[in-house]
Amino acid sequence: MLLKNTSTHFGHISVLIHWLVALAVYGMFALGLWMVTLSYYDTWYHRAPELHKSIGICLFIVMVIRVIWLFISPPPKALASYSPLTRIGSKLMHHTLYIVLFGILASGYLISTAEGDPISIFGWFEVPATLTAQGIQADTAGVIHLYLAWIVVVLSLLHGLAAFKHHFIDHDLTLKRMFGFNSDEK
Ligand code: HEM
Ligand code: HEM
Repeated sequence: MLLKNTSTHFGHISVLIHWLVALAVYGMFALGLWMVTLSYYDTWYHRAPELHKSIGICLFIVMVIRVIWLFISPPPKALASYSPLTRIGSKLMHHTLYIVLFGILASGYLISTAEGDPISIFGWFEVPATLTAQGIQADTAGVIHLYLAWIVVVLSLLHGLAAFKHHFIDHDLTLKRMFGFNSDEK
């Protein structure tokens, strides 16, 4: 088992975190859209947002670990077959995905703590409120949260489509590498 990335290879930690985060983001998107349609008398009215917030804070912790891991174990080199445009475009996309994701997590935190209430994570521990501006904080953060959620979903689907293009049209190892295959394993 290869934990760290090499110059040709995504290690298992990067692979695991990548797919775990992707799964969590799509799940959170669906959960978020569904929970805001619930009525007060629905059994999930309180439970769904609690779940959304708890998973969201866990996702934040995973994303911080992911960024630290980027420095400990940098990603493999771009494949030799990539054009300069592909190299720049993919880097730009990866950075944008990171930034937008942190924006979603921060705005989610600001909605949840706008009234000064802490966030309970599955009842295990609490994250305290810090910024609690009076008035429009929850509404403003809510609009930003929704837009950023759509942006991350659309961009990541385009990013996924690009990976499929590499796999099915260019027949290169881009997608296989994100499942832990080595550059010289075809
Ligand atoms: C990748 C992570 C996340 C995604 C994709 C996501 C997505 C969404 C979506 C699509 C909505 C529905 C918004 C609407 O229709 O108005 C929503 C609502 C909400 N999210 Fe998230 N969310 C994420 C993380 C978080 C985090 C970390 C928190 C808090 C710690 C959070 C707190 C909330 C709250 C409180 C609402 C309800 C807002 C309202 O009542 O208008 N979310 N989220
Ligand atoms: C919300 C969903 C997603 C996010 C946030 C995301 C984010 C990222 C990021 C930041 C990287 C750069 C490597 C790293 O830092 O770990 C990456 C690489 C990659 N992702 Fe995603 N991704 C998502 C969904 C997908 C999907 C759905 C696919 C394919 C079906 C995919 C395929 C890949 C591949 C093949 C790479 C390696 C690219 C390369 O070697 O340059 N990702 N992804």
